[in-house]
Amino acid sequence: MFLLNTHPDHRRPLDPADAEALGDAGTDQVERFLAFRGSPEPTPLLALPALAAEVGVAAIHVKDEGGRLGLGSFKALGGAYAVARLVIEEASRRLGRNIDIAEIPTPAVREIASGMTFACATDGNHGRSVAQGASIVGAESVVFTHAGVSAERVAAIARYGARMVRVEGSYDESVAEAAEVSAREGWIVVSDTSWPGYERIPGLVMQGYTIVAREALRQLAEPPTHVFVQAGVGGVAAAVAGHLALVLGAARPLFVVVEPARAACLYETAKAGHPVKLTPGESTVMAMLECHEPSLTAWRVLSRAADAFMTIDEDDAVSVMNRLARPLGRDPVIVAGESGGVGLGGLIRAATDPEARAALHLDAKSRILVINTEGATDPARYAELVGEHAEVLRRRAS
Ligand SMILES: Cc1ncc(COP(=O)(O)O)c(C=O)c1O
Repeated sequence: MFLLNTHPDHRRPLDPADAEALGDAGTDQVERFLAFRGSPEPTPLLALPALAAEVGVAAIHVKDEGGRLGLGSFKALGGAYAVARLVIEEASRRLGRNIDIAEIPTPAVREIASGMTFACATDGNHGRSVAQGASIVGAESVVFTHAGVSAERVAAIARYGARMVRVEGSYDESVAEAAEVSAREGWIVVSDTSWPGYERIPGLVMQGYTIVAREALRQLAEPPTHVFVQAGVGGVAAAVAGHLALVLGAARPLFVVVEPARAACLYETAKAGHPVKLTPGESTVMAMLECHEPSLTAWRVLSRAADAFMTIDEDDAVSVMNRLARPLGRDPVIVAGESGGVGLGGLIRAATDPEARAALHLDAKSRILVINTEGATDPARYAELVGEHAEVLRRRAS
């Protein structure tokens, strides 16, 4: 399915609050946080010239988030960063002066953090980030997971000291449960999705993701002409599209949002012209993208800064994982988890569909940027779908 953005706000300037969250000043703060964590190095940007030739474009670059902060996905940037910012804000309020990120390890700030509990619902990756953020600042964390989250993913979150709560039902039900229990217990919800009246903290989470776009622009010789980014609730797509629109203005690339056909809440929202909630159906292999309701903030940004919405099928996602594991020609091996290669899957689909190719002006001059949003965050599932362990592939590649 493919749809051009025909929303009346398309290409209008971002809402001032979104511009503040996703513009350069916010990204500067994220960079300071990464320096504080001792991880100022950008993640790799890898060129796939052989695949570009096959699909008939000038260049394909993959921003590989598989190694981000040791958590295996770009999600490492959002939840942990929001937790740190919230601790700094609380400490500044309590201590009566502006506290800097570098003061997080001081006894006065740690004492304040130790009285704070951060909660979230997750498909896996976001919870890992919130739990890691809480452990860095010395706060408590409680993470709600739904029935579909694998035992391996649950264990990876618990490793950071989070208290785990299992919720019957879907991701959306775990979000509702986390919000309800937290309101009762006085915990701070750090959600990667937003809803009416709850936008500031998800805005901080999205601010954390903007560094991906900044790093990619620095690593590329010239800005891309097209960007394809996968979406669950739309947070990372909105962060990247919003940041690019703010820093490049009218020269921004065409931006395409890619979702699983089985969980296409942004596609359906774009079609309807307003946020829609889908009834959950069959689950998708693209586990991290199985969301049935868009983030309100993300939709507000994407209605302005996205140019098209599309879906890919289950076998497209598995095929792209395998293509990246066993690349053409001298293209590098990239380990992409089930949701990692979905943006690239969207490009391959659009480039080989004459209608979408023409609508997006994809041609031999197009320079494409996609994000591998996760490595093998569920190693057993990865090995099952690719027929090889990620470690073996990595060793062979190096
Ligand atoms: C690996 C991966 N890719 C993409 C996404 C989608 O991000 P969002 O929900 O912000 O659209 C997620 C969300 O958890 C993810 O874990």
